[in-house]
Amino acid sequence: MILIRRAERNDIGSVYELEKECFRDPYPEIVLRMLYELYPELFFVAEDSDTKTIVGYVSGMIRIDGFGHIVSICVGQRYRGRGIGKRLMETIENAMRTLFNICKYRLEVRVSNTNAINLYKSLGYRIEAILKKYYLDGEDGYLMIKNSC
Ligand SMILES: CC(C)(COP(=O)(O)OP(=O)(O)OC[C@H]1O[C@@H](n2cnc3c(N)ncnc32)[C@H](O)[C@@H]1OP(=O)(O)O)[C@@H](O)C(=O)NCCC(=O)NCCS
Repeated sequence: MILIRRAERNDIGSVYELEKECFRDPYPEIVLRMLYELYPELFFVAEDSDTKTIVGYVSGMIRIDGFGHIVSICVGQRYRGRGIGKRLMETIENAMRTLFNICKYRLEVRVSNTNAINLYKSLGYRIEAILKKYYLDGEDGYLMIKNSC
């Protein structure tokens, strides 16, 4: 069974291992630790309850302009396509709404990342803008927004 729960400080090492599996330009571990310290209530992990391994995570923050910002989400390759990404997104949106009274959400995604774009669209996000050369390798990004206000 896959359980979604708040991350704990000593989960971040495992989250970093997952981050390296998921992204070609992973966040350094120190950045993940900073995200956790800033908004521990907006950092969730998906745990396989049989093996006690962390198989997904999502992290976010609240922006000064009133948007909840989904900073990062990933699910381990072997666990994809089982609804875990969707559950992580719903969990962080719910926490932003109930703890911080947030009803607008934003995120950035590579234009080539069809799976993630499909996930976000299925949750009500729309493409708001193209971010030219947003990524280190020069790829463009989409700014995607969901407004449930
Ligand atoms: C994007 C990611 C988090 C999705 O996680 P997931 O657990 O596989 O997603 P889910 O199973 O919850 O899928 C939810 C929806 O996303 C879309 N989706 C996910 N994987 C897809 C795929 N392989 N093909 C097409 N659509 C896909 C679908 O709309 C799906 O809804 P459906 O099952 O009703 O069709 C995962 O692929 C991942 O970790 N990718 C690498 C890291 C990454 O790109 N993160 C996002 C950076 S912005």
